[in-house]
Amino acid sequence: MTTELSLANVQGDILVGFSKKVELFYFFQIDNADAFRAQLTNLVPLISPADKTIGEKAEIRKKKEEHRQNVDVGYGTVIKPVHFPVVGVNIAFSATGLQKLQFIDNPKLNDVIFDNGMKQDAKELGDNNANPGADFKPDWDPAFLQDIHGVVLIAGDSFDTTSKKLADVKASLSTNSVSSIIEVATLAGDVRPGENSGHEHFGYLDGISQPAIDGVDEKILPGQAKINQGVVLLGRKGDTGNSPPWALDGSILAFRKLPQKVPEFEKFLLESAKSSNIDIPDGANGADILGARLVGRWKSGAPVRLAPLADDPELGKDEQRNNKFKFSSNSQRSCPFAAHVRKMNPRGDLDAEIINERLILRRGIPFGPEVTSEEKITNKTQNERGLYFVSYQSNLANGFSFLQKSWANNEKFPVEKPFLSGFDPIIGQKVDQSPPREMIGANGDNVSSPMKLEAQWVNSKGGEYFFSPSIPTLKNV
Ligand code: HEM
Repeated sequence: MTTELSLANVQGDILVGFSKKVELFYFFQIDNADAFRAQLTNLVPLISPADKTIGEKAEIRKKKEEHRQNVDVGYGTVIKPVHFPVVGVNIAFSATGLQKLQFIDNPKLNDVIFDNGMKQDAKELGDNNANPGADFKPDWDPAFLQDIHGVVLIAGDSFDTTSKKLADVKASLSTNSVSSIIEVATLAGDVRPGENSGHEHFGYLDGISQPAIDGVDEKILPGQAKINQGVVLLGRKGDTGNSPPWALDGSILAFRKLPQKVPEFEKFLLESAKSSNIDIPDGANGADILGARLVGRWKSGAPVRLAPLADDPELGKDEQRNNKFKFSSNSQRSCPFAAHVRKMNPRGDLDAEIINERLILRRGIPFGPEVTSEEKITNKTQNERGLYFVSYQSNLANGFSFLQKSWANNEKFPVEKPFLSGFDPIIGQKVDQSPPREMIGANGDNVSSPMKLEAQWVNSKGGEYFFSPSIPTLKNV
């Protein structure tokens, strides 16, 4: 009989999400399994469970509110910007990492996609082939072509505090200066600066729509989906898989490095807006409208379903309203079927029960510098930037892997008759990129002319599936 969920048992990034300006992803191989298992006792106290993460987030909110009130009463000039040195640490293991750990005879999750690892899934995900014409080899960064056994996530307010915490993590996993792990790569993401904070690199506010978890989230916002704990946590109500007892209260973490071609995307919007026949009200910016129709939200976060013709920043930031909508199942006047948020959460197009099993918790962070003036002039990406995508789900056949393959990459979804919806213009991948991807509905209900989407603006450069165990399981490994 499974006991009631305790937030002290679940790693904090899963159910709550770390507060972060910066996040380090430390990918490692286990060199000496016996030593590693012994040293985990030193590491576990550094791991942030969900109850601690909730407390820290509440504290940050309180401090920000106090700060805002002080500024409001006119002391703003003498008060220094608020600074919260909060750092969250979590750990997760790949399928080969669980094997390597040797903490149990057969450490499989019975999730075929997880147990085989992301390299095996890359072709079906539509990732590019580095060996065209020969056996498929994903066109990934070399680090992800290696065996990665695990990842430590360290999220916090600055590079300084997160780097210091990483040093503590490494020290906890070594005895007499001999480490039980080998570093494969350390990637660093950071929230974009200034007014772009919270926006991904194409410029759109991110992290608006997340499902609420039954029995965990007290506040449910208008329009927010409520999901069973088992959609995210293994072994809980609603988990459709067949996982072993030691997996209880763990979650599968999908990590993807997704570089974004920002100047090329912007050039496409500008040129297409000039040539296509989208309705552009007087004085409005055609590229902005087109971009909003590809994403399904304006840059401010306002959904095009509620604000079809112009951005509405008040709506974008109003959490009481910015998720309160459904698509009208036979129309794409306000939002194309293929728009990224409609593909990923086709609310109103399908029954809520079907969608709710496929919702994921997204915990990604941007990486890379802002677009330079030279890149703007040449319309060519010269510096790599994009999204370190992170999602949590209890199984991949419903979560990330399903969403990418069956919805984003599937031109028949959500509608195939009397026309094909087309590819998700933001993340949809087409194995053979020639001819280019197409989508319907960028021009409203004019379905006669699909829009050619050119080469992809987001191309995966690798990743891995990890299992983020419960704290009790970490203690028993
Ligand atoms: C929502 C951008 C990759 C799944 C969004 C939003 C933006 C965005 C701007 C709207 C904000 C929000 O609702 O929170 C991007 C970019 C990506 C990317 C630029 C790649 C560089 C992915 C991937 C997946 C995904 C790989 C999963 C396969 C979702 C989901 C939502 C979402 C589930 C919420 C939809 C809703 O509930 O309305 N994304 N995304 N995204 N994205 Fe992505």
